[in-house]
Amino acid sequence: MTIPTKPIFFVLLISFSVIKNYAQTISLKDAYKNSFMIGTALNASQIEERDSNAAKIITHEFNAITPENSMKCEVIHPSWNTYHFEQADKLIAYGNKNKIPIMGHTLVWHSQLSGFVKNIQSADSLSLFLDQHISTIAARYDGKIFSWDVVNEALNEDGSMRNSIFLQKLGPNYVVDAFRIAQKAAPKTELYYNDYNIEQPQKRAGAINLIKKIQAAGVRIDGVGIQGHWQLGHVPFKDIEESIEAFSKLGIKVMFTELDLTVLPNPWDVTTADVNMKAENNAYFNPYPTGLPDSVEQMFTKDYVQLFALFQKHKKDVFRVTFWGVHDKQSWLNNWPIFGRTNYPLLFDRNYQPKEAYYKLISITK
Ligand code: G3I
Repeated sequence: MTIPTKPIFFVLLISFSVIKNYAQTISLKDAYKNSFMIGTALNASQIEERDSNAAKIITHEFNAITPENSMKCEVIHPSWNTYHFEQADKLIAYGNKNKIPIMGHTLVWHSQLSGFVKNIQSADSLSLFLDQHISTIAARYDGKIFSWDVVNEALNEDGSMRNSIFLQKLGPNYVVDAFRIAQKAAPKTELYYNDYNIEQPQKRAGAINLIKKIQAAGVRIDGVGIQGHWQLGHVPFKDIEESIEAFSKLGIKVMFTELDLTVLPNPWDVTTADVNMKAENNAYFNPYPTGLPDSVEQMFTKDYVQLFALFQKHKKDVFRVTFWGVHDKQSWLNNWPIFGRTNYPLLFDRNYQPKEAYYKLISITK
């Protein structure tokens, strides 16, 4: 009986010292309080307070929360005259209770649309949908949330407009119209354009054109969200820096809204966050099913540190940095672009423990 006690004792000792260190550490939100907001995305179980371990991390670390799915069309507006506000209302209550501002996501997106929207045939009906959908939801939460991603992912990689149902039926002005409707319905809410890869030069140029078009129409746009779904070892630091400079010249806030770093091999040569692209699982594409090797963990820490040093350098223009999830186990990157992999993209691991990168990100602020 004495033999197993020793390892257990050491495991307990190590766990205790990690927890003790963590408890003694100032939070991310406090470490960066003079620079930018630090946010996270909450899934349904976190909004409904069914994930008690995550709950402690959320309130300790973050001063901005984004619903990962709860305000998307297929959840909140399932049919023409039906709205399901339950999850979004819970989010508002959660934000109020914990005094954390809420970043709404998202009013207009080609993905996760309800079936009835995909089946709309005429331009008039789609225009009616756009008006009713935005007006109803944005008005309900005006004064209760901080911001909206009004339009999400409207661009192709070359900077042209994505061939979505909205472009096909309403033409390119639908983006300006969406912001105009949101501005009327939600005068107290900040309005943002949000997309992935818009740090890349061609797509960035498309985003700048879109933002200038909204501004030229006399319609309010308060910020731009660069999603930040990047790959370990390939973070485009130079493009990111150039984008902060270029977008801030438009007189709007610059944010990193969905930050995570995939550590797994990419089945394609392209970097994307297109949820419709999927590939098959196999051992080559899932190399770390039981844990991350130290060498990869070190690269992960290094990339995050370099990234936050860059954000710090531009703190005058960076308004918020939001991680796309609280801990590795909940990340969408375990199931995309290949279902059932084990990924490690965030600062808290599967056991809700902070990683080395977490401590380093705090220590570089001192
Ligand atoms: O809610 C259903 C559940 O009822 C069902 O049993 C289950 C079975 O698959 O699916 C559940 O829906 C899933 C939903 O997440 C909620 O968990 C969908 O299948 C799944 O596709 C969906 O994935 C989300 C993805 O957007 C799809 O749109 C991810 O959680 C979410 O992180 C991701 O977020 C997007 C941003 O909104 C926009 N930018 C890219 C980013 C990453 O794809």
